[in-house]
Amino acid sequence: MDKNLIIPNHIAIIMDGNGRWAKERGKIRLEGHRAGAASLEKILRYAGEIGVKYLTVYAFSTENWKRPQKEVNGLMDLFGKYLDKEKKNLKKQGVKLVVTGEKENISPKLLKKIEDTQKFLEDCEKITFNIAFNYGGRREIVSAVNKILSENETKKIEKITEEEFSKYMYRPEIPDPELVIRTSGEFRISNFLLWEIAYSEFYITDVFWPDFGENELDKAILSFNKRDRRYGGLNVK
Ligand code: FPP
Repeated sequence: MDKNLIIPNHIAIIMDGNGRWAKERGKIRLEGHRAGAASLEKILRYAGEIGVKYLTVYAFSTENWKRPQKEVNGLMDLFGKYLDKEKKNLKKQGVKLVVTGEKENISPKLLKKIEDTQKFLEDCEKITFNIAFNYGGRREIVSAVNKILSENETKKIEKITEEEFSKYMYRPEIPDPELVIRTSGEFRISNFLLWEIAYSEFYITDVFWPDFGENELDKAILSFNKRDRRYGGLNVK
């Protein structure tokens, strides 16, 4: 990694292509997800090493419940096993764990495991690892609206600013991502972080997630460094 490059503070990743990766190899889809989990371990470690402060990954969307029960169960199981296997490594790497999304339909056993792992890692501060799990961008916005309504049952709200609204999102303490990466060549946002990506740069690669290694992250960061970020204004050079 070139020392002169700007490292994004927050990178968000849509880890797509596990199924196609598996199919190409004559394996079942779950094998693709397992390989995806291995890829995630590598990328999280590397992101911490190069100075990324927040890494958000889309691991299970509110729409993923529509997949066959076997695959849904497999993904739930994989998440639990990932936490068991990685807990100590995450601590060594200084990883604080955040899990963002709805708790409904997640088994109490998995919720307990998540909570225990978060407690175990609560003092870590090198990098915040945010797993979007049972997450939907529209659901997050609606949940913010509902929080505002329930907090203000008795008084009429006249107006709200963007800044005030942001405080009702799931994770107001996490800054917006500067860079969003999507693997496997799809040009879609798939209900990911709709509010938070207003000014994010996008990087889309044809590489399937299980094949996305450190050099692929380098390429994404290099591309990010070539962007002219204007936030709707003009850059006068
Ligand atoms: C999208 O690929 C991927 C997912 C829906 C699951 C992502 C999960 C992992 C990478 C496993 C690791 C997660 C944790 C939390 C340990 P796809 O199945 O839609 O691929 P396809 O489009 O090729 O079918």
